[in-house]
This record gives sequence, structure tokens and C-alpha cells, in this order.
Amino acid sequence: RVPEPCALVVFGITGDLARKKLLPAVYDLANRGLLPTNFALLGFARRDWGDTEFAELARDAARKSARTPWREEVWERLASSVRFVQGSFDDDDAFDELAGALSELEGSHGIGGNAAFYLSIPPAMFPTVLKQMQRTGMADSTPDRWRRVVVEKPFGTDLASSRALNELVDSVFGADDVFRIDHYLGKETVQNLMALRFANTLFEPIWNGHHVDSVQITMAEDVGIGGRAGFYEETGAARDVLQNHLLQLLALTAMEEPVEFSAEQIRIEKLKVLRAISLPDDLQTFAVRGQYEQGWLAGQRANGYRQEEGVDPASTTETYAAVRLGVETRRWAGVPFYLRTGKRLPRRVTEIALVFKRAPHLPFADTDTEELGNNQLVVRVQPDEGVTLKFGSKVPGSVMEVRDVSMDFLYGEQFTESSPEAYERLLLDVLLGDATLFPRNAEVEASWSVIDPLEEFWAGTEPFPYRAGEWGPRAADEMLAAEDRQWRRP
Ligand code: BG6
Repeated sequence: RVPEPCALVVFGITGDLARKKLLPAVYDLANRGLLPTNFALLGFARRDWGDTEFAELARDAARKSARTPWREEVWERLASSVRFVQGSFDDDDAFDELAGALSELEGSHGIGGNAAFYLSIPPAMFPTVLKQMQRTGMADSTPDRWRRVVVEKPFGTDLASSRALNELVDSVFGADDVFRIDHYLGKETVQNLMALRFANTLFEPIWNGHHVDSVQITMAEDVGIGGRAGFYEETGAARDVLQNHLLQLLALTAMEEPVEFSAEQIRIEKLKVLRAISLPDDLQTFAVRGQYEQGWLAGQRANGYRQEEGVDPASTTETYAAVRLGVETRRWAGVPFYLRTGKRLPRRVTEIALVFKRAPHLPFADTDTEELGNNQLVVRVQPDEGVTLKFGSKVPGSVMEVRDVSMDFLYGEQFTESSPEAYERLLLDVLLGDATLFPRNAEVEASWSVIDPLEEFWAGTEPFPYRAGEWGPRAADEMLAAEDRQWRRP
């Protein structure tokens, strides 16, 4: 499906996200024929640029990171409707100019007045920009045109601020016109979780506390904080990704089957899970945060967090967070959900692992079962997208020896279709008005209710150190050892 004629306005167009993800996604959509013929791209930023300089930056960015092959003629067509508006967010004139540029494009490019506004800016700037849009009437949908806003996470910094922001956004745009981006939901493998669970008969009967011993959700990154010290210092791992990506993965893993595959019904099921999450009583043991120190990664020396440019040498911001959560429902009562995320870990990997209970009885008297672990079902979100099933098998030979083996499904081997980048998929959904893959404000607020007590507990404490290139602080291993379990080494 191709969206109706429209404009995409990006605030913060010179930022990291716009260059690495949004501009390439726009090009890829155009290249796949998924943008309307009448389409305009407007960038808004402080930099003193004209349309030509902006078009050049956009071209370079798109060319560098596009998923689809480069075709100059596709870009040329896009470039003819690219506009740049220079100004700061409290500059009334600049917003008047933006509103003017939009109306002009309405006539000259036939975009019909439809527009999506992408806030790729620090959350602290949201109120100023939203108020400007309200003042200029830019945010108003009418029967003849839609106006939508896309908000990047983290949405707020705690429950109170996220509530205030939600109220503000909802007072400027209609609730159905607000799209909160959690780009993990745009990942193919994350969407496949629903197919895996609800399109098959095999998994759902054992997808519960009768069979599952524990669940581990890991989002590990080998990178540090790059040039984002300003943002990261204020945010930390728990607010940056635990509050959103990891809790959304948990919700999709633990939710019941929705009555239909629609935005509303999926939201209802995810929200039930998020509201059923319980924190451990003993946070001392079961909530761990860490910070990387100097170490080695892939044969290269890596700086410690406190030595990164722009970071306070005495910073207590965490770059690693792990927590044991419960989901208080009939399906999951008593099953621990261990979540962890960190920067400068040995490798980039995101996965959801269901660790099953051990067989209640082994009938092989003298069998060597030392190498037999728990059965596991691992959804590999990235990289090496796919699913792995780990189970015991007899080792060939004359004695009865049982050892773990694995069975793999790899996207690359089974499908010839290429998957769109998460931002490409989500941008298209915004332009189509499909909110299925976007968390609603109630979900965001329920997630903050989980994070707030953790932040409170951690406030004023030092994160545990871990060396860059290691799997997090020792306290995180002790957390699982306290319950006779171990983290997977993906
Ligand atoms: C972002 C976080 O939401 O996700 C970053 O702000 C993180 O800190 C990024 O690096 C990871 O995304 P992906 O898609 O590369 O796993």
C-alpha cells in the first residue's frame, strides 16, 4: 500500500538519528515505490543552510546507509521536493516560515495538506516545539487533511514527566495522530514473535510456567556511547532501553493472544502484561547496574565510560542494567524474567530465551548427562536473525551419552525476501496511519511504573564496574547464581 500524498517534516534533521536512519529510510521507501508521487521532505534545524546544502547532506546520508541499491534517478526525484527551514525551536518566525513552506508545497507539489512531524530532538525540547505547532495551527487535522506527530523515546524521564508530556502531546494532536516510536517493534524478528506463538500449535502449549523455568531477555551492544555523551549522561541504560525496548520484548513474549491483529487489541494485551509486572523485594540482589571501565574489545583497547568525551569523570550513570522481574498472571506466576542490557559487552546480540524446566526423571541409569542443559527456545532478534531450539540428543557411539544439540532457523536461509529496516517499516506505517507497531501512552506509563522504583533504589549509589569486553559486572552473575541459574552466553 502506498500512502496518500503528504509531507514529512523532520525536526533535528542534522542529528545522528536523521542521518543514520530517517534519511536512508526515506530513500529506501522511494526506491521500493512505497512513497506517493506527491511527496515532500522538510528538514528543520538550527544550522545555517539552504535547500541545496540540505539536499546534499540528505543525499550523502541516504547513499551511505540505504538498504536498497543506489539509483540516482530515484534520489533526483526526491531531491526536487526537499526543503530546509532554518531556525531554533523558540523562533516564531522560523515556525511561521515552516507553516508557509507547507502551504506552498500543498499547492506546488499537490501534497494535499497531509503532514507527519518527526520529533528527532531531545525530549526537553518537545514542549517548545509542540507549542509552536499549536500556535501556528500546524498540528490540526481536519476532514480534508491529516496531521500526525512521531515522538522518539525515551518518552519522559519518569512516570510524572511522561504523564505531563502525554497530556501535552494529546492536547496538541488527537490521540490517534500520535505515534510513539519504539524501533524494536519495527524489527522483523520482533514481529515474528507473534507469528511464532500464534500461527503454530507447537509452542503455545509449553509457553507458560508449567514448562518454562525462566526467561532471559538480553540486549547487548559492543559499542560504547559514541558521540552521545550529552544524552547518555542524563539517561543511562535503564531509561534508554530497559524502559522501552526490553519491556516491549517482555510484553510480546508474555502476552495472551489478541482477539485480532490490530493496534487496539495488541495494545490491550501488552498493557495487561506491563501492569502485571512485579519487582523483586530484594532489589539489592536482583537489580544490578554497572558502568564499563577501560578494557579490550575485538583486540582493541576501549576507553572506560568516565574517560569518554563529554562524560563527567565522576559520573554514576549506568551503562549496564539487569533486573529480575515477575509477571503476576496465571500463565507466568513464579517464572522469573531476567532482563539485561549493556554497552561495551563482548558482542552485539539481542535475544529472548525461554529456558525450560528439566525433565522430571531420566531413565538412563549410568548415562553421562553432564553436558545436558535445560531445553531452550531462543528467538534471535539480531544479528543472525532466526530461532534456535536447544535440546539433548544421544551422542553417536556404543555408550548412552546425552549432549545438547541445536536446531536452527535462519532468516537468510529460508527467505529470499529482504526485510525492511525497522525505521523504514515504521515510517511507512506513520504515513499510512497504521498504529499497530507503536506503543500507546498507557503502555509508556506502565513501563515507567516499573522503572521509577529501580531509579529510586539506585539514586545516589555507584554502579558496579565491569571491564569493556566483559559480560557485565560480577553482581549480575551473582543475581542469577542466587537462584541457581546462569546467564546464557549468546
Ligand atoms: C536506541 C538507544 O534506542 O537503540 C541506543 O538509544 C542503542 O543507545 C540503540 O544503541 C540500539 O538499536 P539497535 O537497533 O542497533 O539494536
